[in-house]
Amino acid sequence: LDVFTYDPGFTSTASCESAITFIDGDKGELLHRGYPIEQLAEQSCFLEVCYLLLYGDLPSKAQMDDFRNTVTRHTMVHEQMHNFFRGFRRDAHPMATMVGVVGAMSAFYHDSTDITDPHQREVASFRLIAKLPTIAAMAYKYSIGQPFVYPRNDLDYASNFLHMCFSVPAETYEVNPVLAKAMDRIMMLHADHEQNASTSTVRLAGSSGANPFACIAAGIACLWGPAHGGANQACLEMLREIGSVDRIPEYIEKAKDKNDPFRLMGFGHRVYKNFDPRAKVMKESADEVLELMGIHDNPTLQVAKELERIALEDDYFISKKLYPNVDFYSGIILDAMGFPTAMFTPIFALSRTVGWISQWKEMISDPALKIGRPRQLYTGPARRDYTDLSSR
Ligand code: CMC
Repeated sequence: LDVFTYDPGFTSTASCESAITFIDGDKGELLHRGYPIEQLAEQSCFLEVCYLLLYGDLPSKAQMDDFRNTVTRHTMVHEQMHNFFRGFRRDAHPMATMVGVVGAMSAFYHDSTDITDPHQREVASFRLIAKLPTIAAMAYKYSIGQPFVYPRNDLDYASNFLHMCFSVPAETYEVNPVLAKAMDRIMMLHADHEQNASTSTVRLAGSSGANPFACIAAGIACLWGPAHGGANQACLEMLREIGSVDRIPEYIEKAKDKNDPFRLMGFGHRVYKNFDPRAKVMKESADEVLELMGIHDNPTLQVAKELERIALEDDYFISKKLYPNVDFYSGIILDAMGFPTAMFTPIFALSRTVGWISQWKEMISDPALKIGRPRQLYTGPARRDYTDLSSR
């Protein structure tokens, strides 16, 4: 008889070996290839973090230039993809569009679907990192009825994304460097997070030999849920619904009520039983961005800060070790930049793509790779005989 461990939600199962990201949930520590997230967020940039996650070390100047040039060369999408977009309803959620379009990349870029060829695996990773911002921006433009904006390869990665989202052909759009830096930091803070639900989904899909575009589309689908990446949209909507500081106690009580399914969005984490280090950086960034944009007394930020303060002093949240996570403050920054809430999770997706593809590459080059195939505890009927319809 087979003997296996029953571990719903995989709370204590390591599904792989990985050398990419380390989390100490009790200390609230996050390291990428050994480097603390705080140092990366302060001193690095998103594309450098991409290189680090993909290749294991920080690049030399020449390696970085080469990597940047290569990624930049791939920012455009196949022109035929524009038609593909036009098949969607305009009011579709951009995540719905992204699941479809990224999945369809394997129909547009057949050459890099050969996972046995290390060079093509490399090309697939460049294509994904380069094209995801273009696809997310197209999903946004399509949803507001504006023409698609082509990438500008003279801009850095984050500035180019803002350009594709906010520039309009009839007007001159100058990317605000403060916003570009904040965008770049948001991307860095979301780049990878070891074996979270969407990354595990990418690995599981990839373990069958599925092509990288299909695997990333599976990751995007998983990320969409409100317990995972969808929490950033849900969190800002919750903060707006609370609306003013005096209504916070009502929502704290709702979150504590076991008969009420409501949860404080942007709070709690499977691994962090201490501050999520990304949330700390995000909070500082929110302050900085609003200050630099001259937005004082932002009511949503006020509600967020007070909610955090009250929750952190509350016995329920203390005893369950519930702290703000990465999604708690990110929406406030994205909102100040002019993004609608529906774009928050697509921005998470484009930022996490490098993590997904780095994990996929690590897995696919492991000689000991096996198809992921969990077992179950069967709870259905015992064997019984079929009866004819007339006798039922
Ligand atoms: N508000 C109120 N109670 C909560 C919350 C919350 N946000 N999170 C967890 N709890 C309670 C939960 O009810 C449970 O109580 P009890 O032990 O009495 O049943 C206990 O804390 C443990 O919760 P759990 O659901 O068993 O913990 P988990 O590790 O399975 O879930 C989580 C982690 C992130 C899904 C959960 O904390 C949650 O739903 N948070 C809100 C959604 C959110 O912010 N998600 C973003 C996560 S970070 C970024 C990302 O992954 O994308």
